[in-house]
Amino acid sequence: MYEIVSKEVLNEAVELMEIHAPYVARKCEAGQFIIVRVDEEGERIPLTIADYDREKETVQIIYQVVGYSTQLLSKLQVGDSVHDFVGPLGQPAPLHKLDHVIGIAGGVGAAPLYPQLRKLHEMGVKVDVIIGGRSKDFVILEDKFREFCNNVYIATDDGSKGTKGFVTTVLTDLIDKGEKFDEVIAIGPLIMMKNVVNITKPLNIPTSVSLNPIMIDGTGMCGGCRVTVGGETKFACVDGPDFDGFEVDFDECIKRQGLFKQEEKVESDHKCKIGRG
Ligand code: NAD
Ligand code: FES
Repeated sequence: MYEIVSKEVLNEAVELMEIHAPYVARKCEAGQFIIVRVDEEGERIPLTIADYDREKETVQIIYQVVGYSTQLLSKLQVGDSVHDFVGPLGQPAPLHKLDHVIGIAGGVGAAPLYPQLRKLHEMGVKVDVIIGGRSKDFVILEDKFREFCNNVYIATDDGSKGTKGFVTTVLTDLIDKGEKFDEVIAIGPLIMMKNVVNITKPLNIPTSVSLNPIMIDGTGMCGGCRVTVGGETKFACVDGPDFDGFEVDFDECIKRQGLFKQEEKVESDHKCKIGRG
């Protein structure tokens, strides 16, 4: 069992939990993920590691309360425990010691982006970030990014904070003003990452993206998380989750992501009559 040592509500849909998980905390690197099961019969929830503290032996996860299983997770409080917390899974993000890198976070994509940018800063890279959200309440981790980023740009769809528009609006403005980036790391909705690549690819600015397709076992056995990268089938859980954005077949990812929308809604709306949830 893995105890919840702190919990924070970041906005109406997103929560942060810090979990005591000594093995994962000792080994994990930026970019890797864990699979959590709330109880013995629970569904496996893959979540990217948002932060870790090797001394406290804790790992932070940030999740959107969207379906039945994340609702169960959300009901737990400090002092409660989750049944399984398996990891670290996946590959550490490929981080390069360049001069200037910009991270682009869409909504909860800020969670996996944070440890990657912090690591780059520790490596001596000048780091900027663009954080996007539907409105100001959906812009998360701004203060944490401000601790080490040279520039923090905010974009909101409704203009309630920062630039009115998408993260891509800000990226285009910066490039038009003559800013030079050696690499872009974009994490957020697939359509956002696809549109970032549509900007960076013609300019040949290397772009890393993080894919989180449907995952079941998280160990390369089930094939659920398959994606096409550079014309080859890859498994996001063992080959990723970070990939070269120029090579990702985003249209296929978007199509596959929509496959189980109806089932997820039924599960989320389900009112259990046998005592679970
Ligand atoms: P959202 O739909 O509210 O979008 C967040 C921001 O992304 C927007 O504010 C905007 O700036 C940008 N965006 C959205 N649509 C865009 C478009 N068409 N063009 C350019 N930019 C666009 O995001 P959310 O509800 O917080 O969802 C976050 C997404 O991130 C989820 O789909 C989740 O699957 C994904 N995610 C990915 C990872 C990962 O590791 N890859 C981790 C966590 C979350
Ligand atoms: Fe099963 Fe990746 S989750 S192969």
